Amino acid sequence: MIEKIKEISDAVSEKISQITSLNELGDLRVRYLGKNGEITALLKGLKNISAEERPSVGKHINELRQKVDELLNSYEERFITFQKEKKMKEEEIDVTLSLPDKNACGSLHPLTLAKNELINAFTGMGFSVLEGVEVEEDYYNFQLLNIPADHPARDMQDTFYITNKILLRTQTSAVQARTMLSQKPPIRVICPGKVYRADDDATHSPMFHQMEGLVVDKNVNICDLKGCLDEFARSFFGADTRTRLRPSYFPFTEPSMEMDVSCFMCHGKGCRLCKGTGWIEVLGAGIVNPVVLDNCGIDSKEYSGFAFGIGIERCAMLKYGIPDIRILFENDLRFLRQYK
Ligand code: DAH
Repeated sequence: MIEKIKEISDAVSEKISQITSLNELGDLRVRYLGKNGEITALLKGLKNISAEERPSVGKHINELRQKVDELLNSYEERFITFQKEKKMKEEEIDVTLSLPDKNACGSLHPLTLAKNELINAFTGMGFSVLEGVEVEEDYYNFQLLNIPADHPARDMQDTFYITNKILLRTQTSAVQARTMLSQKPPIRVICPGKVYRADDDATHSPMFHQMEGLVVDKNVNICDLKGCLDEFARSFFGADTRTRLRPSYFPFTEPSMEMDVSCFMCHGKGCRLCKGTGWIEVLGAGIVNPVVLDNCGIDSKEYSGFAFGIGIERCAMLKYGIPDIRILFENDLRFLRQYK
């Protein structure tokens, strides 16, 4: 019996050193300590031993059972700890790594920023906002605005024609005609939007944005125009901005003029931005030509008006110091991120 005990003890020691999983460990426990296990069988066999030997043999078997039980428990514990550590290593994450870019926050495009600021400047003076259409009829874009077919003034705008009568609008002035035909004075609207011309260089793009302004009411005159545009210039370019009006020509206004603002970089002294003149051209404007009022069903003897057209890219380029119009349409994130 004592020999059998020794044999089992050695076998357990050897087998336990070879196990590779918790399942195998469980099998060992069943094999030796289970209901029909080898050590359990030894205990059951005690009844066949003489009464004198029984206490001492029983003691040995109990010691063996206890030893095997402790051995299995300690292996089980080591196994569980080992597996836990292995899992932790495999699933390790570095919480100090910087966040992926998808969590970065977007921002408005500089053109949208400029457009919003222009709109704010005029809605603050009581103007409402209209948009019009980009695929426009020759009739609204040219004819009603006193630019008949074959008129030399058409050469001022290189046009994308879709048919003889339909084109991509070359100017937001087209919305003027539509507005006068559909609204009765008093009219006070601005019309921001895309316009198209066959033109492409560092300061011209085939698609760009303008904002048209139109006021029609009784007794509207150049002083009203100048007051309104001065207010806009100070709101958009800075409170100390000065303005000047220069004579110009547009078929839909009479008289016509262009407005310059004092250079906000050198304050009039002359620099690279204003090409040494101290002034920067920002918009075209004028008193609505009576022919246009009459074309659009508004009695030019009763009403008068003023109009202006602002280039939004030009305003954004001036305000944000952007040297080339094409940068605005490339959507290079390194450029756009500067305007957060
Ligand atoms: N439509 C003109 C252009 O695209 C800009 C303009 C000038 C608009 C004078 C006006 C205006 O309403 O009165 O060059």
